[in-house]
Amino acid sequence: MPIIAPSMLASDFANIQRDTELINESSADWFHIDIMDGVFVPNISFGIPVTEAIKKHAKKPLDVHLMIVKPENYIADFAKAGAEIISVHWEACTHIHRTLAQIKENGCKAGVVLNPGTPVHLLEEVITDCDLVLLMSVNPGFGGQKFISSTIDKVKKLKALIAEKKADTIIEIDGGVNFETGKALVDAGADALVAGSFVFSHSDPFSAIDGLKNL
Ligand code: DX5
Ligand code: ZN
Repeated sequence: MPIIAPSMLASDFANIQRDTELINESSADWFHIDIMDGVFVPNISFGIPVTEAIKKHAKKPLDVHLMIVKPENYIADFAKAGAEIISVHWEACTHIHRTLAQIKENGCKAGVVLNPGTPVHLLEEVITDCDLVLLMSVNPGFGGQKFISSTIDKVKKLKALIAEKKADTIIEIDGGVNFETGKALVDAGADALVAGSFVFSHSDPFSAIDGLKNL
């Protein structure tokens, strides 16, 4: 069964406690927290105080996705705000090995995110240091975008790299996930799926999450 991480970017910010409790009561596994700075991506979402507000009510781990430049400057803050997993973009890190170590020193699981145009082989030297790799299946910055189908092949390449290096790394996918794309991803070897608009725009978010869990 895949890990399901609903993205709080698609929740109702005026009712964030209600939507956090909805995820608590659902069969979802993690809260996916999308942090955008308006520099690394062309959109601004929310930051540390909102992450703390979600944490106050969340009964499941926070999976924090940093779409920001210089993520190393904010890792301690997000760890303190309650993140269990922190993922940084490969494209935003000059010293990815150091940044992964820093995330772990702050008591969190460490993830690397690849944009759609960034190849998997760039992770060869650090895959054994990654608790998680998040493959973007849309260009980051916005919810509700169309799934980029070449991600399916990328999942297979990542799975092969993990096997080759005998790493113990979770494969997570983010963007445009629904029942159809989710099924193809799970069949290709994805372990965790992020879903934002599909869950929160659904007339019955609980059944949307159940459906993804049972793909
Ligand atoms: C995009 C974010 C995603 C986004 C997914 O930049 O990283 O987590 O919220 O949204 P959907 O599921 O609507 O594509
Ligand atoms: Zn995300």
